[in-house]
Amino acid sequence: MEKKDELYKGKAKSVYATDDAKRLVMLFRNDTSAFDGKKKEALDRKGMVNNKFNAFIMEKLEAAGIETHFEKLLNDQESLVKRLTMLPVECVVRNISAGSICRRLGVQEGLDLNPPTFEFFLKNDDLGDPMINEFHIQSFGWATPEQVEIMKALAFKVNGVLKALFDAAGLLLVDYKLEFGVYEGRVILGDEFTPDGCRLWDKETRKKLDKDRFRQGLGGVVEAYEEVGHRLGVKFD
Ligand code: TMP
Ligand code: ASP
Repeated sequence: MEKKDELYKGKAKSVYATDDAKRLVMLFRNDTSAFDGKKKEALDRKGMVNNKFNAFIMEKLEAAGIETHFEKLLNDQESLVKRLTMLPVECVVRNISAGSICRRLGVQEGLDLNPPTFEFFLKNDDLGDPMINEFHIQSFGWATPEQVEIMKALAFKVNGVLKALFDAAGLLLVDYKLEFGVYEGRVILGDEFTPDGCRLWDKETRKKLDKDRFRQGLGGVVEAYEEVGHRLGVKFD
């Protein structure tokens, strides 16, 4: 497999073509961004930690019957993935209130959400990823009604698998963001699952062990990601 041109450079990852039209290389950089890129910093080791964390989670999801784009780790910071046609929406599942839902709805942080709630956001940095609903998705053709139903069902199936996985490691899965794409006509999970795109709290102390450490300037960002990984059994060496 030969790595070719850079196709896309996001805020924390880059994507490269390969000599196989159906495969891409995903590079996890150390770059860390928040508030739509207004706060940025390169954090030593983060690319390696997130690449290995993501591989571990994607393999757990595959084992639970959830198809993902992940194929294999290539090296410390790169993974081979299937080339998807991405659907331009972000799917957020929330088990506990935190982040934007507290600001938008005036609710306090830390409320158990029963049932867990779900939100769609438009993937558009210039607009600050605005929240959208299913009518917007259909009116503007961002996904079909069938794809919307599949994304919701898969996002909740992921919740069942990962809530249990994190619970066994003494962690609360507060919320997370997923992105899906189409591969050979099927909607499958793309992008990443790392502490950059979810919230994880220690079950006992409620200590934040995710990107909120960066957003809120709490320090120990990569150390927290590694602690989560170690508790799950992710191998970083
Ligand atoms: P929020 O509270 O900012 O709406 O984010 C909810 C969860 O989704 C949180 O774990 C962070 C993640 N997320 C991203 O990773 N990227 C995004 O662009 C958005 C909107 C959310
Ligand atoms: N990843 C997004 C950004 O850089 C949103 C966030 O996680 O705060 O701005």
